[in-house]
Amino acid sequence: MEDITKLNKNKTCAILGASGLIGQQFIRMLYDHPSYQIHSLYTSSNSEGKTVSEVWALPDFQTPFGVKDTTFKNINGLYEIDEFDFDIVFSALPSSVALPIEEYLRSKGMAVFSNSSAYRMDPEVPIMIPEINPDTLELVKNQKIKYNGGFIVTSSNCSVTGAAIYLNELLKIHKIDTAIITTYQALSGAGAKGVSAVQGMGNVIPFINGEEEKIIVEAKKILGSVMDGRIIDKDINIITTCARVSVIDGHLESINARTLEQVDIDVLFKQLRAINSPLEHPHHIAPSKHLIVRSEKDRPQPRIDLYAGSPDWSAKGMAVTVGRIRKQSFDDETWINAFVLVHNTIRGGAGGSILNAEFIENHDML
Ligand SMILES: NC(=O)c1ccc[n+]([C@@H]2O[C@H](COP(=O)([O-])OP(=O)(O)OC[C@H]3O[C@@H](n4cnc5c(N)ncnc54)[C@H](OP(=O)(O)O)[C@@H]3O)[C@@H](O)[C@H]2O)c1
Repeated sequence: MEDITKLNKNKTCAILGASGLIGQQFIRMLYDHPSYQIHSLYTSSNSEGKTVSEVWALPDFQTPFGVKDTTFKNINGLYEIDEFDFDIVFSALPSSVALPIEEYLRSKGMAVFSNSSAYRMDPEVPIMIPEINPDTLELVKNQKIKYNGGFIVTSSNCSVTGAAIYLNELLKIHKIDTAIITTYQALSGAGAKGVSAVQGMGNVIPFINGEEEKIIVEAKKILGSVMDGRIIDKDINIITTCARVSVIDGHLESINARTLEQVDIDVLFKQLRAINSPLEHPHHIAPSKHLIVRSEKDRPQPRIDLYAGSPDWSAKGMAVTVGRIRKQSFDDETWINAFVLVHNTIRGGAGGSILNAEFIENHDML
């Protein structure tokens, strides 16, 4: 029987770092994608020659049938290809590895969608979240002119994605001058070989190397605005504390945001709940609501809310959930308190990059 998921695929994709946790989410999500077809999978020499099913480690998902016997190629082979016969690169490499290869691919005119932090703070490169900063398309256009059609578009750090999607909507309602973000981050955020079972299970590790700094600079860039082809950072104070907790997937974040305005918490709740996705063009994996607001006292929870997002068949795990919206007032200042949850390897990882590709393609730039 014909596999209908393979019909009408108009772009072929290479996945770099395909054996890792983000790489496997790319495989799973692209396998089911109506427009993008998996072309080749690249890793280091460690996984070269292994099959996808040999490394598969995603909780909740089986190895996609049609790629279970596909083998990984050595990434160094990319430097030997004269003319690429795929259209898009999705990168899930460690940052030090991503730095030279992503730049090389861009210089060859390739569209690179990266999950690594290597180019996130490069002034030419956007950290794109289409529901927040569609104006960063201008940076893509400028790169295409400079690099012979090639460009790099990054997705944000997984924790930043959740915080930025919530704060962006809050900032449209209240003037916020300070946000205190405390994260409770899943073990999968450290990658396939990141935290050992002995360290991670039944434990909280109150340090994640470089994470607190990344959240501050990336959130300001994402929430910023584009002026004459440059991003002007959002003027907001951000204070961060990050911890690794004994959860498999899903980063929970406590966000306390300060405003000097009067806040009616019931009105704010209704305003946030009424928000729909601003994306106008059809996107396969965009959720109809990018921010889901819960009213229950004890939500969001990773175990219950991890796969938020509808339609369920294409967008699960693509919505951010916010709950426990409260306020505390002192003299003339009010703190708006909330908990936010993001699926770190879907919305905060592979799904974020695939949405960026769809968004750019819908603007005829891919
Ligand atoms: N995990 C998350 O929640 C998350 C979320 C957002 C962004 N990110 C970012 O996404 C990237 C991937 O994260 P991950 O969690 O998927 O990591 P991971 O599970 O450790 O996977 C890393 C991947 O990179 C490959 N790799 C490592 N060294 C290499 C080298 N020298 N040359 C070629 N390939 C190499 C690995 O291949 P081998 O199997 O051959 O070693 C593997 O496929 C990182 O930059 C991370 O910061 C992660």
